[in-house]
Amino acid sequence: MKAEILSVLKRDGGYVSGEELSRRLGVSRTAIWKNINALRDDGYVIASVTNKGYRLEKCADLLDADLIRKGLETSIVGTRLDVMKSVDSTNEEIKRRAALGEKSGLIVAAERQTGGKGRLGRTWSSDSGGIYFTVLIRPDLPPSDIASITLAAGYGVCLAIREYTGLDARIKWPNDVIIGNKKVCGILTEMAAQTDRLDYVAIGIGINVNHEEFPDEIKNKATSLLIELGRKTDRNEFFRCVIRQLDLVLSSFIVSLSVDEMNDFKKLCATVGRKVSVQRGGLLIEGKAVDITPGGELVILSDSGTEYTINSGEVTVQGIY
Ligand code: BTN
Repeated sequence: MKAEILSVLKRDGGYVSGEELSRRLGVSRTAIWKNINALRDDGYVIASVTNKGYRLEKCADLLDADLIRKGLETSIVGTRLDVMKSVDSTNEEIKRRAALGEKSGLIVAAERQTGGKGRLGRTWSSDSGGIYFTVLIRPDLPPSDIASITLAAGYGVCLAIREYTGLDARIKWPNDVIIGNKKVCGILTEMAAQTDRLDYVAIGIGINVNHEEFPDEIKNKATSLLIELGRKTDRNEFFRCVIRQLDLVLSSFIVSLSVDEMNDFKKLCATVGRKVSVQRGGLLIEGKAVDITPGGELVILSDSGTEYTINSGEVTVQGIY
């Protein structure tokens, strides 16, 4: 109901009476009044004047499940969506819910995380202004497919940034999304599995959206949509676009990407064609990333002429943070 009221007030731009709102939305005036107050609690500034009605003065910059879901039709990802004000980590929250039997498709997002987790045991700084969320999926796949699922998620976010902002977002293999040479999105995928089948996958995604700056230790490596665009992004609308792209990409990836889709992925992969180095079993491989296999592995042609196929690991790419 909050989303419907907001949409009328936004469209109209002027005062709309309580009577008019209740007639248009088919609910009582008391329900309108309660929802207007709930919107104010969320941070929206709504003026009310006797005999004139309500007028939206200022939108709250908050993630709002109703606004995100508006017009969103997805087959798996985001069929259910829960936005929390604060949580330790959305990955931890999804894992707790998965253990209680939650079905595939749930997204848990949070305005802030008090214990945001990055890859390799790092922390993920989760100040307000970002989009931090985890998608729960239960694909009928072997655990070895986890790498391709993560790859697909990065691809989905990359496509959404390109579509919504027009920025030249690219993938740093396997699953960081970068703009220029700086990171705008990180992904941490965790799973539970039986020997030969995945039980669930928790795909945790952090996107830097309206951050004006970053802590000293990461400011040379991180960027945000705000820094790149020079203006704020409507996080609810953008999040909707991300969910839609993730749904499209993950649904087709679970069946396996077509040749065309894989070629599109490669075009957006900033790692291919660059000089890279990666540590593998005590050996430092230095060379050039030359391709991505249909299974999503990175092919490196080493300086000594040997071809290596890498399926995971921290790859250092020359010129990218
Ligand atoms: C990385 O690049 O190191 C991965 C960062 C992943 C961060 C996201 S934010 C939402 C989800 N919850 C977490 O605790 N981590 C992931």
